[in-house]
Amino acid sequence: MGRGEIILDVRNLRTHFRVGSDDLSILRGVSFTARQGETLAIVGESGCGKSVTVHSVMRLLPKNGRLTGGQILFHDNGRTFELHKLEPFGKEMRSIRGRKIGMIFQDPMASLNPVYKVGDQVAENLLQHFKLTKHEAQRRIVEMFASLGIPEPERRILDYPHQFSGGMKQRVMIAIAMICNPDLLIADEPTTALDVTIQAQIMELMGKLKKEQNKAVILITHNMGLVAETADEVAVMYMGRIVERGLVERIFHNPSHPYTRALLRSVPVLDHGKTERLETIRGATPSPAECVTGCEFANRCDFMTPKCRSGIISAYEIENGHLVRCVLFEGAKELPNE
Ligand SMILES: Nc1ncnc2c1ncn2[C@@H]1O[C@H](COP(=O)(O)OP(=O)(O)OP(=O)(O)O)[C@@H](O)[C@H]1O
Ligand code: SF4
Ligand SMILES: [Mg+2]
Repeated sequence: MGRGEIILDVRNLRTHFRVGSDDLSILRGVSFTARQGETLAIVGESGCGKSVTVHSVMRLLPKNGRLTGGQILFHDNGRTFELHKLEPFGKEMRSIRGRKIGMIFQDPMASLNPVYKVGDQVAENLLQHFKLTKHEAQRRIVEMFASLGIPEPERRILDYPHQFSGGMKQRVMIAIAMICNPDLLIADEPTTALDVTIQAQIMELMGKLKKEQNKAVILITHNMGLVAETADEVAVMYMGRIVERGLVERIFHNPSHPYTRALLRSVPVLDHGKTERLETIRGATPSPAECVTGCEFANRCDFMTPKCRSGIISAYEIENGHLVRCVLFEGAKELPNE
């Protein structure tokens, strides 16, 4: 089956954060695409740069962060927007963020304003992008709440965030992200705080959006089971770089980077009702302030050789569209722009 059109094309993205007198390199050249009708999953241990990647795309970095290189190209009906060049809070970026690209943030508690009714918070996004009467906006929000499984939506739109449980707050966040019917939905750990049944419902909803409406989805998650079930393509991140990227079947059936293999071995399994880790990845990720020469994974890798410590590690294409950044694949086609 053919693949969907590319809607987001991120090339060699670099982001720095200033912390005290340090200028930390957090994204070290990240490239990926999101396609219509497909889900790209971004995976990797905590702190590898998943959220910073999507905040960079949305141009929502905190004050101490800045883009230092690369391109973020967003394709919309024959037009290409260079998001990396836009003013983060300028007119063009505001017409794309929330309208064309919706985002479910990792922390719903921090993202909802405690002093506004939830319905008004959803309406704010809707009315910023569409000319609607208050009544029409309300009708759409009630419909959206109902489709997200929020009971008694007419009444609940008038409630404040503290009157909602964690799972319900997450649904409100999803409503904010989806109310303008965006072409690309970015979901940063959308199900972590939810129980298994609600998780399944939300994933089903995102699956429908992708299949029935041909939307593009970027899903950030720690849950490899979810990745196997829902993703079309997977990008594995480690210390601000994509170390492996490929179609989901390739990543699960032929994981090739030592980090991906370790990550898949450490998938938690449910054993007699208890969650168990099969194996954890030994060692720890170096801190972003550490100056690592060569492969950032070397201190944890069973295959490390002196070559791994000598300079920038190239990415190789080991099969059509399957990229691995590791010296073990030196015989394969080198990808100099990755
Ligand atoms: N505002 C900030 N100032 C300085 N460093 C930051 C800031 N935000 C994030 N970082 C650093 O950037 C790196 C990547 O963080 P990020 O939040 O993207 O990780 P993540 O992959 O989303 O992790 P998690 O799975 O825990 O959500 C981390 O080292 C983090 O400490
Ligand atoms: S480049 Fe070397 S250290 Fe890094 S993952 Fe490959 S084998 Fe391991
Ligand atoms: Mg995160």
